[in-house]
Amino acid sequence: MSYARVLCVGLLGMTGHVIEVEADLSPGLPAVVLTGLPDTALHEARDRVRAAVVNSGQTWPNRRITVNLLPAALPKHGSAFDLAIAAATLAGAGELPGAALDGVVVLGELGLDGAVRPVRGVLPMVAAAAAAGLREVIVPLGNAREATVVPGVTVRAVDSLRRLVGFVRRAEPLLEPPPPEELPRPAGPDLADVAGQELGRYGLEVAAAGGHHMALFGAPGAGKTMLAERLPTILPELDDAAALEVTALQSIAGVLPPDGSLVRRPPFQAPHHTASAAALVGGGSGLARPGALSLAHRGVLFLDEAAEIATATLQALRQPLETGRVVLARARGTTEYPARVQLVLAANPCPCASPAGDQHCTCPGPVRRRYLARLSGPLLDRIDIRLTLAPLTAAQLTTPAGPATSSAEVATRVATARVAAARRWKTEGWRVNADVPGPVLRRAPWRLPTTDTALLRQSLDKGLLSARGFDRVLRLAWTIADLDGRDRPGRAEVSEAIQLRMGESHAR
Ligand SMILES: Nc1ncnc2c1ncn2[C@@H]1O[C@H](COP(=O)(O)OP(=O)(O)O)[C@@H](O)[C@H]1O
Ligand SMILES: [Mg+2]
Ligand SMILES: [Zn+2]
Repeated sequence: MSYARVLCVGLLGMTGHVIEVEADLSPGLPAVVLTGLPDTALHEARDRVRAAVVNSGQTWPNRRITVNLLPAALPKHGSAFDLAIAAATLAGAGELPGAALDGVVVLGELGLDGAVRPVRGVLPMVAAAAAAGLREVIVPLGNAREATVVPGVTVRAVDSLRRLVGFVRRAEPLLEPPPPEELPRPAGPDLADVAGQELGRYGLEVAAAGGHHMALFGAPGAGKTMLAERLPTILPELDDAAALEVTALQSIAGVLPPDGSLVRRPPFQAPHHTASAAALVGGGSGLARPGALSLAHRGVLFLDEAAEIATATLQALRQPLETGRVVLARARGTTEYPARVQLVLAANPCPCASPAGDQHCTCPGPVRRRYLARLSGPLLDRIDIRLTLAPLTAAQLTTPAGPATSSAEVATRVATARVAAARRWKTEGWRVNADVPGPVLRRAPWRLPTTDTALLRQSLDKGLLSARGFDRVLRLAWTIADLDGRDRPGRAEVSEAIQLRMGESHAR
């Protein structure tokens, strides 16, 4: 027998495909030929695998070896195929009984010394194996914890090719995945830390409850960054599907802690305003890395000092924010990652950033107007809540009226409001009020009585609000009603919504 087959998984974006690694050995000049659309990183597998086999005390077959990856049409990236290639080659040479790996998915990169190294993307790979009806996987020890997150799959781990050989040849046991570790949740930031800024805190609560994008303006030191960083602390935990997506993205990016389990908290990403477009959207050779936009998927993308972001970077954000996904151009085809984020943006009102607030601003009028106008098209147009925070007074900071409400308390109200909204929109397929198109809210049965929207209509007629702004206020009013436990917004909710919308003159 000079042929063997071992299963592996390749990733295209988030989607895994079961790959058959075939090895065929024929007489002829010793050589290794790799076929089936491998990328350059995978071509290097030939040399790695050979060295690993020899350094594991095995005999490298001195024959012509053809390694084929099926289905051939599917592009293959990265180094996760090494271990399967080594196993298929040794089995094809008759060095190993091939049957021991029948129906088993084998994942892992090999070091030249025969050590098995962790790879990125093991979670979505194992999920794909499970979806294809496969029930057994062998993964690098460093990826074993994340692999066990997938239900219905037996996970065994290896730290070296030698161990895999011992298992296949002599049924020696493999390694068990380390047990889950109950790490104490570190005491993170909490809304209780934020003094004053009642409107800002309220805006944050409404943003969390309705899934609304939010912009915070105001003088430096007012607490914009502080507030934004606390949004994840009042958002509900991720449901199973979202948790799996978020964990998979972190696995592909290589940022999942090795002992990490399913990520349940909404992620928070705050790329610096000088971050490159590539860092935001993702890329790189081999298996493309998700960028900050995708790592914030199902969570919060915080763009601090947003007015300082380069125009090219703003342009790169536009499409993903609109579509909820990032499409990366690759040498062979494209890679796609999800990027449904809740956007929070913070900016000083002008370049001089006078800490004392607008009265002391030294910027000429046109400079001031242009500063935020750049954000309008790509970002601001999509944002429901826009607030300008007033500078804190010493009294507010040093002698607060009482202990501020904690994140836990606000999170409870947010969760209740979200349930109400989800129930209302269930048949339409929307989860949060931010998903609901404006025209829907202007039609029966959701249209509000004109007596309740009088103030809103006046704002539109006076040019204080645009038609889009009108719809955004309606959406916010529904979220405020959900927080108030009312089944539809009344005059008071509409008026509060206007306040959350008119915080900045650029915000029409
Ligand atoms: N509302 C507030 N309550 C308590 N501390 C605050 C508040 N606002 C600002 N601070 C203090 O000032 C620092 C700077 O706040 P920050 O959120 O970075 O302001 P901004 O982003 O508006 O410039 C914070 O780290 C905090 O120590
Ligand atoms: Mg700041
Ligand atoms: Zn200024």
